[in-house]
Amino acid sequence: MVDDSIAPDPDLYSSQPTYYPDDWQSETTSIGSSIYRGLMENGRRYQTLSEKEYLVPSDDQMFETYEAGHLVAMVLDSDKENPLFRSPVGSQPKHVLDIGTGKGNWAIDVADMFPDATVRGVDLFPPPVTWMPPNCVLEVDNILNEWTWREPFDLIHMRIMTGSFDSAEWDRVYKACYNNLRSGAWIEQIEASPYIECDDGSLPSDNVLCTWGPNVSDCGKRAGRDLDSIDTMQESIHKAGFVDIQEQSYKWPIGPWARDQKYKEAGIVNYQHWLSGMEGWCMWLLTKFGTPKPWTKEDVQVYNAKLRTELKNPHFHIYQRVRRVWARKPMQDELTGKTPEKAIKVEDD
Ligand SMILES: C[S@@+](CC[C@H](N)C(=O)[O-])C[C@H]1O[C@@H](n2cnc3c(N)ncnc32)[C@H](O)[C@@H]1O
Repeated sequence: MVDDSIAPDPDLYSSQPTYYPDDWQSETTSIGSSIYRGLMENGRRYQTLSEKEYLVPSDDQMFETYEAGHLVAMVLDSDKENPLFRSPVGSQPKHVLDIGTGKGNWAIDVADMFPDATVRGVDLFPPPVTWMPPNCVLEVDNILNEWTWREPFDLIHMRIMTGSFDSAEWDRVYKACYNNLRSGAWIEQIEASPYIECDDGSLPSDNVLCTWGPNVSDCGKRAGRDLDSIDTMQESIHKAGFVDIQEQSYKWPIGPWARDQKYKEAGIVNYQHWLSGMEGWCMWLLTKFGTPKPWTKEDVQVYNAKLRTELKNPHFHIYQRVRRVWARKPMQDELTGKTPEKAIKVEDD
């Protein structure tokens, strides 16, 4: 029997953002719980710790997406002894930081790999993690606030942080990383291009998938958050004073089309990554900054349905570009007062 009393009342479900006052339950409702509740908008939950909006939701669907993204990265580097990072930190790093840790997958795996290290993951939203290795600490904080960690880090890692900051904020983040690493320690960042690409002409140029990159990039520009970190991070890292800059480029296939088994597996997981991620990646951007006027939630859902249909086509040999950059803070005696040499080593996959 259907209980009509719990049927959704359309008047109760507005498309406007829903703010929950901190004191809606009792006076003792903690700040913690208000952070957990977040802000509901267009059916998705967004963080409220930072006054500045972050463009991607922090909800279960997004955490699933982060998990899938982590798996793609792991599969593509599964032939490496350490698929988690390339920085040569030695076998006994003591302090590691993961900025914008999301669901904490990377931080947790690094903590497992280095049981003697303390691995911190920091994010605007508390991750839904039920078990963690004892040497992993997931913290809720805005990385743009003053850093209060006392120990200098051996490695600071960021992955898929594109769109999190404007360019002045990026400079602040890199500077804070520099100041909080010990001499000779490493920064490492992985970023993905927002464009869906194809090298062999199998994706017709008028396909809706070709509109995705330009659409979200243009919205990012209008929002003051360029989505081009993949192409700018190396220069920014250099500008912050890091040396020994190295990079590796990847193609993350989308779908099972690749001949090579490793790429085929990565493509299958990346397809799921896109299916679960797309709506969250574009909802805020298109409903705030879409053209010719901000899109409605329904416009975005229809657009996503079309994209999903096309993504399923195994004849489209599509991929996204991803780049990993790692670099070292100079040793004290290297700091002679002049700008460090820009030495870039490139590896292609
Ligand atoms: C696209 S997610 C990537 C998550 C994770 N690095 C991964 O690869 O699975 C970016 C994360 O950065 C976090 N973030 C954005 N701005 C931040 C800030 N100012 N301080 C801390 N975390 C931030 C977001 O909340 C989000 O969880």
